[in-house]
Order: sequence, then structure tokens, then C-alpha cells
Amino acid sequence: MVYITEIPEHAGKQVTLKGWVYNIRTSKKLTFIIVRDGTGLCQSVVAQDDVSQEVWEKALRLQQESAIEITGMVNVDERSIGGHELHARDINIVSIAEEYPITPKEHGVEFLMEHRHLWLRSRKQWAAMRVRNTIIYAIHRFFQERGFIQMDAPIFTGNAAEGTTNLFETDYFDRKAYLTQSGQLYGEAMAMAHGKIYTFGPTFRAEKSKTRRHLTEFWMIEPEMAYYDLPMNMDLAEKMIVFIVQEVLEKSREELVILERDVSKLEHIKAPFPRISYTEAVEKLNSTEMQEKLDAMAKERKLEAEKLKKELASLNAEFGQAKKGRKFQIDRKRGEINTRLDQIEEDLRNIPVWKKSALGKKWGEDFGGSDETLLTMDDATPVMVYGYPAEVKAFYMKRDPENNDIALGVDMLAPEGYGEIIGGGQREDNLEILLQRLKEHNLPEEQFRWYLDLRKYGSVPHSGFGLGLERTVAWLCGLQHVRETIPFPRMMGRLYP
Ligand code: 4AD
Ligand code: MG
Repeated sequence: MVYITEIPEHAGKQVTLKGWVYNIRTSKKLTFIIVRDGTGLCQSVVAQDDVSQEVWEKALRLQQESAIEITGMVNVDERSIGGHELHARDINIVSIAEEYPITPKEHGVEFLMEHRHLWLRSRKQWAAMRVRNTIIYAIHRFFQERGFIQMDAPIFTGNAAEGTTNLFETDYFDRKAYLTQSGQLYGEAMAMAHGKIYTFGPTFRAEKSKTRRHLTEFWMIEPEMAYYDLPMNMDLAEKMIVFIVQEVLEKSREELVILERDVSKLEHIKAPFPRISYTEAVEKLNSTEMQEKLDAMAKERKLEAEKLKKELASLNAEFGQAKKGRKFQIDRKRGEINTRLDQIEEDLRNIPVWKKSALGKKWGEDFGGSDETLLTMDDATPVMVYGYPAEVKAFYMKRDPENNDIALGVDMLAPEGYGEIIGGGQREDNLEILLQRLKEHNLPEEQFRWYLDLRKYGSVPHSGFGLGLERTVAWLCGLQHVRETIPFPRMMGRLYP
């Protein structure tokens, strides 16, 4: 058996591919089968004159997603997917698929989500999962090569880490347990044992928000470092992101092309990233420049929409007379244009809302998704915002020694409107202050005894952050919604499949 990725090594030789029918079309004497085997796609041609009657009849029975073993000669063919074509000699049918529910024409996203178990086979979904894999591997490499120890934090926990409003409660032998919101607190304990650690695990938030950035179950990577202050923490976060982007560009370039990701945008991601304080960010939102920029953006979008509508009209005019192959192309192109037009329409609806919310931003309020979009608008790279009002941040955040209203927290905002991908900061290391914070946040001291111990026995300055894996995948793949960044997304209204 040969995998499709290995085909170039077998030019001019006979191979057997084991896979599935991705697409099939038949003319009088030829059947074209695009085979997928998990590693890629390969077109194979069955010519009635070159195969036995039995093989020809087998080819005619195939349906999309039928499982086959196909044997043939590898020919170099520039026009074919992957630059090679298989000239078939023999076919072994492993199983004939029933009529496949997902066809190349457009389906609504609800339908696709209900068929997620099959949708994963589609080209773009396939590419996104491979980029996810590249990112996961890059993260492990980044930390492992820098002496970090990977640790697994518990999933059942007795206490909240990130606020009590979005906890999933479970029955733990007649006691209450919660699904973890973050491995951080346990990571802090391990950092005191090993110096530098990172967690890589599932985390849970009973988020009632139905946005394109929220899942109820998502994967978080949380490094925690003893003797790190906030600037060191930010340096690390920046290095990690640059490394991940480089790895994706190097290892997953083909997938990015399939996803139609504008690769040049990722090529611009270089250190240093802008670092602005929360206070500066609020000023930026309130500025007249921001209002002007949004007006300019609206103008630009309107022009783009006009252009696209003209293109659409000419495609529509062409469609009637077009041949079958061209019709398929036109359909695809129309799909792309309509998707972009929907985005533009959404932007145009949003811009007045953004303008208003930017002007009304007051010191002390947390940033919402639209604020994050506006704050990164001018930058090709992510932006780090540090020094948040302590009020909006978690109990464990250390305060700025020069201003007690400010927490030494940092968020990293991805460009192109992808929003917060990292949240982190320096931790409170003083026992008395931490006790005070627990009270202020109405958190039960009893549950945090172990955590407080870390401040009794050799407390040191320490910092860390959490990277949201799915939001990172969405950004790097250019996906509008996190539901396509994880094999089986869990969201407020979704538990199936
Ligand atoms: O900002 P968050 O809530 O920070 C923490 O949990 C800290 N304990 C991390 C730390 O310092 N060790 O979450 C971190 C990141 C966010 O920036 C975002 O990327 C992602 O996790 N995230 C979510 N991703 C998908 N769906 C959700 N509901 C998410 N909530 C947070
Ligand atoms: Mg956050």
C-alpha cells in the first residue's frame, strides 16, 4: 500500500491506494475517480478499453465515499491534483457507500454541524484539523525545547479559578465537584516544584454566550514560571506565538492554501508585538481617529460590495450557457462571493455599533469582542494589552505596586478581528493579600488552603498565561467560527454528534 503523499516517489510504477471515493464522474468510456486516503487526493482514470469488463462495471457502481482499493500506474500529470494521476488497472470494492448526505454543493452550517462526523472528511475541515495538529506539535516543541515540564492538571476540581458564574457542576459522590475552568492554580503548585511547567488540557466554561469565539469545552495551554515577572511573561508569550506561526507556515502551507488563508498576513507576524496599557487602549477607543477610521472602513466595504455584486451578476449571466465543468467552477465562485458579501454586510451592520461602543468606553470596563477588533485594527501582528483594572480580573492577579487599582495582567489580542487568544499575568504571592482577595471575591478559603500553602512555603514572584487552542486555530486558519477548529465542538446548543 502506498499513501497519496508518497505518490511522487512512484512515478512510472504501479501502486495500490486504499481509500475512499471523494468524487466520481463518468463519461462514455472513461470514469474519473478522485480518491482520498486521509493524506491527500489523487485523481485516477478508469478507461473502459484498458480494464476488464468486471473492473469497468465495478467503477460504475461506485458512489461518493465508497471505500476502495485501486491499483494502477502513476503518471506525471501537471493538471491533476498533486501533479500525478493514477491510470487504473484494478479495483477492489471494500464497501459501497449509501447516498452520501454531503455533496459538493453548499449546505447550511446547521446541517453540516449535525453531520460533523462526516463533515470532517471534507477538504477544508480536513485541512483545518491538520493545521490544529501542527499547532499542537509546535506548542509541545516550543516548551519542551526550553526546559518546561508538561503537567496534567485535574479535570474534577473543588474550587473555581476564573469566577463562579460559568462553572459546570457535577455530582461527585454526594459532593459538589466542578469541571476545571483552568489548570493554572495546580500549575502554580507544579511550578514551585519544577520551575517551569505547562499544562495542555481540556477546560470547561458554562458560557451562555453564543459567539463565534466561545466553546463550553476548549483546550488550553497554560505555562507557569517561578521567578518570572510580567514583562518576562509577555516576552515568552510573544516568542511562543512567533514560533507557532513559523511552524504552521512551514509545515502546513498546503493546508492554508486549501483553506484559502491569506498567507501573507501570517508572514507578517514578527516580534516585537505592540504592548499598550489598558489605559492607553481606552484612550485609543475614545479617540476621534478611531471614529474616522471606522468611517473609512465602512466606505471601503461598500465599494468592495459593489464590485463583488457586479462580478456576481456577470457570473449569473454566464451560468446558463456554461459547460458542466465551468458550471461547477461558477457555483464555487458564487459561493465564495456570497460568503464575503455576508461578511461585508455584517461589518456594515456592526460599524455603527462599534463606533458607539468605542466612544462610550469608560476606564474600569472590560473589553468586549468589538473593542478587541478595534484595538488590533492597525496592526499586522497581535497586540498585548497589560495593566487591567483589578476589578475585572481574577482574584489571583497581583496588583501593580505603584497603583493598587491595576492588576498585572496581560491579554494578547490576535489581529484581523480574532480577539483574545491569551490571558495571563503575574500572580499574587503574598499570603495576607491573597486571603483578602478570596474574601473580596466570596471564595471559600477552605477550598483554597492548598493554594495558600504555596504562599507560606517559599513564595516567589511567578507568572503564567493561558493560550486558547481553538481561537489560535481559528486565527491561523482564517476560520470565522471556533466550531470548525475542534473535531467535535461543544457549545451551548450542541452536544451531538
Ligand atoms: O483569559 P482566560 O479565562 O484565562 C485563564 O483561564 C487563566 N487561568 C490563564 C492563565 O493565566 N493560566 O482564558 C485563557 C484563554 C483566552 O484568552 C481564550 O483564548 C481561551 O482561553 N478561552 C476560550 N476559548 C474558547 N471558548 C471559551 N469559552 C474560552 N474562554 C477562554
Ligand atoms: Mg481572558
